Amino acid sequence: MTGSLISTLPGRYYTDPAIFAAEQERIFEEMWFCAVRGADLPNPGDFRTVQVGRESVLVARSRDGSLNAFLNVCRHRGARLCVEEAGTVKRAFQCPYHAWTYALDGKLIAAPNLTSMPDVDRVEYGLSRVHLREWLGYAWVCLADTPPSFETDVFGAVVERLGSLDALDGYDVGELTVGRRIAYDVKANWKLIVENFMECYHCATIHPELTEVLPEFADGYAAQYYVGHGAEFGSGIKGFTVDGGEGFEKLAALEDERDRKYYAITVRPQVFVNLVPDHVIFHRMFPLAPDRTLVECDWLYAKDVVASGRDVSRSVELFHRVNEQDFDACERCQPAMASRAYARGGVLVPSEHHIGGFHSWVVDRLGSAD
Ligand code: FES
Ligand code: FE
Repeated sequence: MTGSLISTLPGRYYTDPAIFAAEQERIFEEMWFCAVRGADLPNPGDFRTVQVGRESVLVARSRDGSLNAFLNVCRHRGARLCVEEAGTVKRAFQCPYHAWTYALDGKLIAAPNLTSMPDVDRVEYGLSRVHLREWLGYAWVCLADTPPSFETDVFGAVVERLGSLDALDGYDVGELTVGRRIAYDVKANWKLIVENFMECYHCATIHPELTEVLPEFADGYAAQYYVGHGAEFGSGIKGFTVDGGEGFEKLAALEDERDRKYYAITVRPQVFVNLVPDHVIFHRMFPLAPDRTLVECDWLYAKDVVASGRDVSRSVELFHRVNEQDFDACERCQPAMASRAYARGGVLVPSEHHIGGFHSWVVDRLGSAD
């Protein structure tokens, strides 16, 4: 590693609506996008709507128990079918405009005077289906006609960081229960959030609680990018909690060698997973505008921890503080992205050089779009 500096992306990449539109089209609408926790939709008729790129996507539990995803658009005259963020319908989705009605599997099942319209094929005019895959207890959706390989893009990110996909098994993420969910409405471009997650140069400055628990983070060479080996808890630390006090029992299937360690995985483009011995912290980003990103963070615990009503607040508090510290920093940068001082971007110090790889990846995906 040399002592040289390399440049960041120019400021306009964080403010320009045309670049954001290109990112929506070529990144969020083409890649696998982690949308919804399956357990949030336990029963047939439960649904949730999420923003994926420029589209509203409706994810619903159908009668046979499977999850389906559709574009949230009525095929008649294009009314938005569900305006609520989440809810339950009894048997079907009915458009509030002219009452076209769609089964939970998307098929058009009724419309006023449909019998007098023999040309309306009920499958053809069913809801437009979106690819969906379930993994780690989440529904991942892809708007592309032909989705990229889930194995390469999603599993690959885990293998790159943990050495193998099996290394995740001990955490049993799909079987854990959401003990707490906090949604952060961050007034910053999604890339500022990714870049921040990728470096720990800031850890000593803004994360006093985290660096207490994970002392190696104070050196700046850790966080998402470097902790494939697992960051070791400090010697006096009992658990991944706000004051380093006792956490819960280690997750049942977790190997001993992963006890007292913290691992982090980034799955491009919008997921960050942090693994600690007794819980998993799972972030999903929803980029809404060049300067606004919704981040939904789930704290996942063993079923019995949540069912028995044990107090998760001390472990939630640690990463909640980290999130607030990080998102404050991102919000501090966002307005300055439009400054002439940042027209040609800033610099990456050696411990941040790997962020340059993320920048090239973004530029490559956008192709000639900018
Ligand atoms: Fe939905 Fe007419 S727009 S029924
Ligand atoms: Fe941070």
